[in-house]
Amino acid sequence: MSNTAAATQESPEMASIKTINMGDILAREPVALRVLLDAARSPGFFYVDFREPSTADILEELPDMFALVKEYFCQPEHEKMKSYYPNEECGYKRYAQLETFEFALDDHSNGLFNYPGFQQNQKRSMMPFSERCHKVAMQILSALSDGLMRQGTERFENKNLPGMPSDSGFMIYCAPTQARVADVEDNAHTDEGTLTLMFFNQLCMQLKHPRTNEYQWIEHRPGQMLVNVGNSLVEHSNGEFYSCLHRAMQPEDGVEERYLLSYLLRPGKSA
Ligand SMILES: [Fe+2]
Repeated sequence: MSNTAAATQESPEMASIKTINMGDILAREPVALRVLLDAARSPGFFYVDFREPSTADILEELPDMFALVKEYFCQPEHEKMKSYYPNEECGYKRYAQLETFEFALDDHSNGLFNYPGFQQNQKRSMMPFSERCHKVAMQILSALSDGLMRQGTERFENKNLPGMPSDSGFMIYCAPTQARVADVEDNAHTDEGTLTLMFFNQLCMQLKHPRTNEYQWIEHRPGQMLVNVGNSLVEHSNGEFYSCLHRAMQPEDGVEERYLLSYLLRPGKSA
């Protein structure tokens, strides 16, 4: 039985995923650090809560970001195809059930010049937002290093030092739900990179829990960002952390628009 078929015949439960406050991560609050480490070990997913006033800036930008993402994907196909590069990860991509657009943090140096289908107002707003996401990803990575008491060259941040060429980048998705749940393509995968940060507004993803081997829903929690460990961080941590299988899914039949934002922290190319 395929994963898709299984999902239509079961009613998976909500996954138990821990939330850690961003302020506590920055302050290296001991209990929060322990929760963060445990979550990175299993299931390899956690939420970061930004609702405290000192960390809430990023949340204020989110409604505008989602509006820009929608505006981008609602452009005519020929506009988006101006940024289509078949042999590169970056730029516009169209698949059977979704469209994506990605730009690397390194592309900021030329003002996203290579993406003519990406309008100026979108560039102006999304560049600082992706830089903010990069900073958050590095802060989480640093906290994980501290939690494991890694020093010097053993620290995870060494794979993403400033100035190091990197494919780390910001990716946006237009992934409308399908008329029938049974038609959702099986897209189960693990992420290749270091950390994936995600913002979304609907029930749209499931993880395969490492202990039960059952798919469970990843819920949307307002004011919180979903983070998952990628394969590179598992390798860098010598298997201490876990990269969990997950997939896009929808809870019921019916076509509905759906947009997601993510930041993909990947190891530097010379690391
Ligand atoms: Fe993923």
